Amino acid sequence: MSQAEVIDGKAFAAGLRERVGVAAAAFAAKAGRKAGLAVVLVGDDPASQVYVRSKGKQTVEAGMASFEHKLPAATTQADLIALVEQLNADPAVDGILVQLPLPKHLDEQAVVERISPNKDVDGLTPTSTGRLALGLPGLVPCTPLGCLMLLKDKLGSLSGKDAVVIGRSILVGKPMAQLLLAESCTVTIAHSRTQNLPDVVRRADIVVAAVGRPEMVKGDWIKPGATVIDVGINRLPALEGENRGRLVGDVDYEDVLPVAGAITPVPGGVGPMTIAVLLRNTLVAAHRNAG
Ligand code: GUN
Repeated sequence: MSQAEVIDGKAFAAGLRERVGVAAAAFAAKAGRKAGLAVVLVGDDPASQVYVRSKGKQTVEAGMASFEHKLPAATTQADLIALVEQLNADPAVDGILVQLPLPKHLDEQAVVERISPNKDVDGLTPTSTGRLALGLPGLVPCTPLGCLMLLKDKLGSLSGKDAVVIGRSILVGKPMAQLLLAESCTVTIAHSRTQNLPDVVRRADIVVAAVGRPEMVKGDWIKPGATVIDVGINRLPALEGENRGRLVGDVDYEDVLPVAGAITPVPGGVGPMTIAVLLRNTLVAAHRNAG
């Protein structure tokens, strides 16, 4: 039986980081300073701590300046906003990322809205999301942009293709749909209330799964030859004799592999793209801010 081609996001991300590194060195030589990324982490969520450490390390490796701000879980809305304003005004900072989710007592939307659109490397401010919806150039959320890069690398033109995005989050689902629409796909956004989800997904030439439900998408949901992008990162409960449960996506990988034309694995697919695109967005912002 034929098997899907496995899309190597890890290798693609390494190539992107290398290109960003070359461009970051050229920026530093011309501007007389490094491009800078500030990451703000509130509280001690272990997964967020891992991401933030990884972002800082890769930022420095790409020849950019990394500014990490770790605030206690009890930080007030006013103190967090004061930090965002301070970073907005800091000429050494080109990009600002406030790690989500924030502790429950903080208003995420209100904090994100205070980030200067010129430094919004996460693409989450109303200005960035509005520009994306209008088809204007701007900073685009990292994970969906990474998915689009993998899709275009694999398929070339996406024009006219049927795309189904499963999930409607502001971090992934909605911007992903906008990006695919801008590539002239016919786009469907499916979500938890969608009826007959398997039938909807079966129409798709391109499936992007971003729901956070382990191994939900099955092989018989997939049109033969379709390209499947799995954004999910879910840890299964540990089995007997295991220290930690397996990491799986939103797609039942083994079940879909014989049906799809191409598929991203978990780990090693979309995951490594997010930080690579964040570095790219920071450099784009640096050029704009310096120019
Ligand atoms: N938490 C998980 N992914 C992301 C992301 O891309 N950006 C931010 N700010 N927080 C996240």
